[in-house]
Amino acid sequence: MTPDVQAFSFISPTHIRFGSGTVSELPARLGEVGGTKPLLVGDPGMAANGLLGRVEGVLRAAGLAPVLFSAVESDPDVASVREGTRIAAEAGCDSVVALGGGSAMDAAKAIAMMMTNPGTPRDYAGTNRLKAPPLPIIAIPTTAGTGSELTIWSVLSDRATGDKFGIGSPMLCPRFAILDPELTLSLPAGLTATTGMDALTHAIESLVCTASNPFSAAHAEMAIRMIGENLRTAVAQGGNLAARSNMLVASALAGAAFNNTRLGYVHALSLPLGSKFKIPHGMVNAITLPAVMDFNLPGNLPAYARIATLLGERTGGLSLRDAARSSVEAVIALKQDIGLHQTLADFGLTEDRFDEVIDEAMTSGNCQVNPRQATKAEMRAILRAASG
Ligand SMILES: [Fe+2]
Repeated sequence: MTPDVQAFSFISPTHIRFGSGTVSELPARLGEVGGTKPLLVGDPGMAANGLLGRVEGVLRAAGLAPVLFSAVESDPDVASVREGTRIAAEAGCDSVVALGGGSAMDAAKAIAMMMTNPGTPRDYAGTNRLKAPPLPIIAIPTTAGTGSELTIWSVLSDRATGDKFGIGSPMLCPRFAILDPELTLSLPAGLTATTGMDALTHAIESLVCTASNPFSAAHAEMAIRMIGENLRTAVAQGGNLAARSNMLVASALAGAAFNNTRLGYVHALSLPLGSKFKIPHGMVNAITLPAVMDFNLPGNLPAYARIATLLGERTGGLSLRDAARSSVEAVIALKQDIGLHQTLADFGLTEDRFDEVIDEAMTSGNCQVNPRQATKAEMRAILRAASG
C-alpha cells in the first residue's frame, strides 16, 4: 500500500560519475568547476595506503599542483578545519578535493566553506546558515557508508567542548562525486562492515521516517536491497569488485535519500554516544539500530515489512506486524554475519550516563522525523536493549 503523497521537495545536485578507473577523470572534472589549484584533503590512512599519492599523481600528470592536507582525524575536529583552511588560504587554493571516508569529506566541505565565509564553523551549525558559496568541492569516497559525497551535511567534532555538530546547506553538496569502486578494494573487513551498516542505517531511517517521499523512498529501497545482497560478500571477500561496486552505489543512494528526509533516533543517539564514548559512527549505528527499529515498528509497520522483503526475508503469509518484526531479525542476522557483536556496554556506557546521552540526543533535528516519539523512559529502554 502506498501512503498519500504529502508536499515534499527533493534535491540531488551532485553530478555522479561511477565506474572503475573514474578517478583518472579528476583533472577534467576539476576543469569543469574552474579548479586550477586544489586542496587535496585526506587522512593519514590515505597517505599510508598510497591512495593519496595515487590521486596526487593523477593531478600532477595533468599539470596541476595540488596542495596536500592529510591530517584529518576520524570524527574531524574544528581545529583540523582551521588548519586546513589556513593551508588552503596561504597557498591560494581555488577548489577542494576530498579523498576518504566521511571524516575526510566532512572536513573538506567545512574547509571549502570557511575559505569563503567569516568566523568559525560553529557559527554555521544548523541548516542554511552559509553566507557565501564554498569553494567547489569534488568528493571521492573510499568507503561505502557515509553518503557525504552527495549530502548537504558536514559533521564536526569540537574536542574543546566535547560535542559534535552538523552544518547543513545545499551549497555544501559536492559538485562532483567520483565513485571509483577500485578505491574501496583495500578497505579492511571491519571498516567495510561498520561503514556498510552506516549506509544501511541511512536507508532504513530515511525510508521509515515521517518525511519519506516517493523520490527518497525509491533511493532508500534500492539501497537496502543492494546492501542486503552485497554487504556480506564485501566483508568476506574484500577484493570482490562487484560487491564493492554495489556497496558504493548503495551508499550513495542512501545518502541521496536521507539528504532529503533527515534520519531518526539512531543518528540522534550516535552524536552523543560517538563523542562521549569514542564509538566510531558506523559501529554505534550498528549497535543501536535493532533496538531503535524494535521501538519504531508501530510507527510505520508497512515500511518495516517492506524492509524485511528487501533484505530477503520470506514474509508471505505473515501478518503485517510479524512481517515488520522480521526486518529486525534480518538486521540482527546481517550484523552477526559480518562480525559485529559489540554492545554499548563494551564501550563503557553505564546506566548512570543514559540521561546525559538522551538529553543531548533529543536536541537533534533527526528526532522530529522519527516515526514514533519516545518518552525519556522509552529512550532509556532503547539504550538498555543496546547495552546487553
Ligand atoms: Fe551516518
